[in-house]
Amino acid sequence: MTIHIGAAPGDIAPTVLMPGDPLRARWAAETFLDAPRCVTEVRGMLGYTGTWRGHPVTVQGSGMGMPSLSIYASELIREYGVTTLIRIGSCGAMQPHVALRDVILAMTASSIGTPSSTILREVNFAPCADWGLLQAAAAAAQDQGVTPHVGGIWSTDTFYDERPDLTDQLTRHGTLAVEMEAAELYTLAARHKARALAVLTVSDHLQTGQALPGDQRETGFAAMVEIALAAAFP
Ligand code: HPA
Repeated sequence: MTIHIGAAPGDIAPTVLMPGDPLRARWAAETFLDAPRCVTEVRGMLGYTGTWRGHPVTVQGSGMGMPSLSIYASELIREYGVTTLIRIGSCGAMQPHVALRDVILAMTASSIGTPSSTILREVNFAPCADWGLLQAAAAAAQDQGVTPHVGGIWSTDTFYDERPDLTDQLTRHGTLAVEMEAAELYTLAARHKARALAVLTVSDHLQTGQALPGDQRETGFAAMVEIALAAAFP
């Protein structure tokens, strides 16, 4: 057990899917895994372990934002020996050709800083996805009839952002979407020689103001979970 994860050693699989929302962790585990069982509920941050096509898989909530994700991902990697971490989450589209429900595979994640930034001093480290996972996710998406957007995203600390000029500059530079966790996940994975990828579903659009109604979020998110699982076990 760690400070924030109550699972016994051996209760966490080497492959972990990480939604921000703990209730989505429960939904993903109960919908896609065989024999899912709750392995941690410290602070309500639910984690479930089961199997997918015979492979052990854990689905662990990360909470919102990089500081929260950093706690869970660090403990998973350092204390439980997790080697593959795939974020499954929602994002806000930043380009006109990206639509609600579209799937984004984050090749890179820009940020102003992450919890890891201080150890990197003045270097603007470029957090990037694991190539094997990215390639497998792109192939899995095509197999499922989904055409994903693959490119750079923006990991922000500010959900209620009052910097329209900053969003505009990132949009000009081709950033596909905004979310709040991937840059730190990629940085931690790089540091600890683990593999990481963020597979995202567009839940809202920064330019049009459109947003998926709550009841449509789950069905839209199913494709993302299936892509993540197929990418982990190609
Ligand atoms: N901003 C930040 N994170 C998000 C958003 C957003 O608009 N949508 C989903 N996650």
